[in-house]
Amino acid sequence: MKAQQREIMENDKIDFDELRGLTIGTVEFISPKEIKILLELNAPQNTALNTGVPTLFPKINGYVLIPNEAGALVGIISWIGVENSPYPKRKGFKDFDLIDLPFPLRKMSVSPLGILKKKKNDFEIERGVYSYPSVGDPAIIPNQKQLEAIVKNKSENANVKIGTSPLAANTSVYIDPNKLFGRHIAVLGNTGSGKSCSVAGLIRWSIEAVKENLNEGTDKPNARFIILDPNGEYKNSFDQDIPKLAIVRKFKVTFGNEEESIQQLRVPAWMWNSYEWVSIVRATPGAQSPLLRQALRAMRNNVTELDESITVAIKVFLATILTSIKTEISSGQPWGSFPKPKNFTEKIKKWQKSIEDYISKIPSSDKKDKLEVLNTALVEKITPRSIQYPTYDFSTTEVNEIKNKLHDAYLAFGGSMADLMPKSEDAPVEFDSDSFVNYLRDLTEENNASQYMEYLLMRIRTMLSDTRMSSIINTEKDITLMKWLEEYIGKNKAENGEITIIDLSLVPSDIVHIVVSVIARIIFEALQRYRRKNNQLLPTVLVMEEAHNFISRYNSDNDELSPSRMCSQTFERIAKEGRKFGLGLMLSSQRPAELSPTVLSQCNTFLLHRLVNDRDQELVKKFVPDNLGTILNELPSLPTKKAILLGWAAPIPILVDMNELKKEHQPDSKDPDFWNVWTGKEKREINWGKITSEWQKEGETPGG
Ligand SMILES: Nc1ncnc2c1ncn2[C@@H]1O[C@H](COP(=O)(O)OP(=O)(O)OP(=O)(O)O)[C@@H](O)[C@H]1O
Ligand SMILES: [Mg+2]
Repeated sequence: MKAQQREIMENDKIDFDELRGLTIGTVEFISPKEIKILLELNAPQNTALNTGVPTLFPKINGYVLIPNEAGALVGIISWIGVENSPYPKRKGFKDFDLIDLPFPLRKMSVSPLGILKKKKNDFEIERGVYSYPSVGDPAIIPNQKQLEAIVKNKSENANVKIGTSPLAANTSVYIDPNKLFGRHIAVLGNTGSGKSCSVAGLIRWSIEAVKENLNEGTDKPNARFIILDPNGEYKNSFDQDIPKLAIVRKFKVTFGNEEESIQQLRVPAWMWNSYEWVSIVRATPGAQSPLLRQALRAMRNNVTELDESITVAIKVFLATILTSIKTEISSGQPWGSFPKPKNFTEKIKKWQKSIEDYISKIPSSDKKDKLEVLNTALVEKITPRSIQYPTYDFSTTEVNEIKNKLHDAYLAFGGSMADLMPKSEDAPVEFDSDSFVNYLRDLTEENNASQYMEYLLMRIRTMLSDTRMSSIINTEKDITLMKWLEEYIGKNKAENGEITIIDLSLVPSDIVHIVVSVIARIIFEALQRYRRKNNQLLPTVLVMEEAHNFISRYNSDNDELSPSRMCSQTFERIAKEGRKFGLGLMLSSQRPAELSPTVLSQCNTFLLHRLVNDRDQELVKKFVPDNLGTILNELPSLPTKKAILLGWAAPIPILVDMNELKKEHQPDSKDPDFWNVWTGKEKREINWGKITSEWQKEGETPGG
């Protein structure tokens, strides 16, 4: 054991003699955040050759080493400059007649990053610094092997090569998909900076790398990606090579003219939960939402006709007013000063009318008796308050009497709601939209709520019958929940990868948020249930392009449930809990400052392309520790295709020159070609006739 240990010790030692030959400067100033190095007069000016390979030096964000007893401190160059200093000391040379003038000396600032240690014949970097160098210590340029060790990803599954690192002698940069996708990644950058190419590349390179590493007996990668593509740019990006490795499914709004390989996008209205319904039809919390929820619940429980279930309706009505009176009591409404008691009187007048109405509709029974008792009690309270100049004030006894009789009647009609309609209004049970609208209409009439509900009903009818929307949301019997999951997540017995590309470009803007929200939620809930049933995760990556439009920052003071907020909240939930169920997010956005902070802070890896806007830069700087932040100063000037990878999937923030993506593999997002059209190189014809006839037939054509 001793011999072995000694051997390691010897191997782990850093050869200081060898290092001395590589010295480029000496440490002049040290603080935990910054180390200043005075460069030697003969240190390389542009390209360093003393490490064996030509290395650019000195260069911002390049690396230097400062050997110490623990190994060598790795620093990242954050500033290079010239300072006038006293003339450097000359040995064995003194001329008392000369006056030393300030002499321009090159200096640089370095941010400490970690410690490079020698392991056998290799090196390994440890994050964090516990032992700092001292003034006068030499600084050296790392050689190729050391650079590789600095940027190397030590993760076990770092098998996907995404590019090279220009600041580390072009060593390959590998990522571990478990880390990259397991804890969400955000790809951020200005328009045209290469985000979509990186997203398409990460998917393609991952699948290609899987192919090289397949387990014995497995012949295809089982990777699963679902791309939500608002601009319709990904539809042809995976047509080459990938279909041999994974099934590529495409969905979009087809307007009936089916392209062979593309299926009609379907997000049927029965898939929406009650919150999604409330938000899209903008139901008010007072009168509209409860009825809407009640109708949905009935649909989920296959109650389609109100007459069959008049007792249900009565019970629900009683439940509603029971809750209402409890709230009134707790807020002191029936008492208080004028007009509180008067308003309360008005309320019980309405209740009484509805109850009287119900009584007339049901045959004699115990239930009916209870309802009549309640009715009498209400009438007793109303009559004395209907004279001219009445005293509205209520006594506690009176109000409690109403409450108790209400409770009795409610129990007589079958107790709690849950007993009769076990399925919640949110369960994705298929229903037919016509029956839903009819049921809601009947329910409205039963409840004398036409005045509140009429406009809402109209909105729902318009939405369901609008040709632009109905192709997506109609509820024809041909699609079931199971079929949907098979088509959008996958149906193979874990032997085939699947890429689902959902082109949202032709989805009308009125429903696009709901569509995205429902798709994301159903996928999330399906994976949640997958884990519950199988005790295993089904790793899936959900890609959201143009994320600032769907996962936007919202004002949490305002509790209006708009569809766009609904959508943000769905993604917030996925960002927070997705990892537990195998759902990873890959977001791409050009406006990080507009993204939901909750989602952004849950992203553990960032791939940052060029970012010019100050606010966006400030924002991303918050995600890295101070001493590593200097590399981000390069953000505004990054060329297309170069990006900074940082976070969970990268041992240290690193500048990556992304792999080249062939033209055919790139997402298709052409800039408009003004020049070639202007000069006639490309021809354009104009035929508004075709456009107007379609436009006027379809209603407003969505953008795309
Ligand atoms: N890895 C790459 N390989 C080859 N070309 C690339 C790569 N990355 C970017 N490009 C080039 O840069 C152009 C713009 O890239 P891309 O469309 O990905 O930008 P973007 O950030 O998604 O822009 P937008 O925000 O407008 O969608 C591409 O058309 C392509 O020519
Ligand atoms: Mg793009």
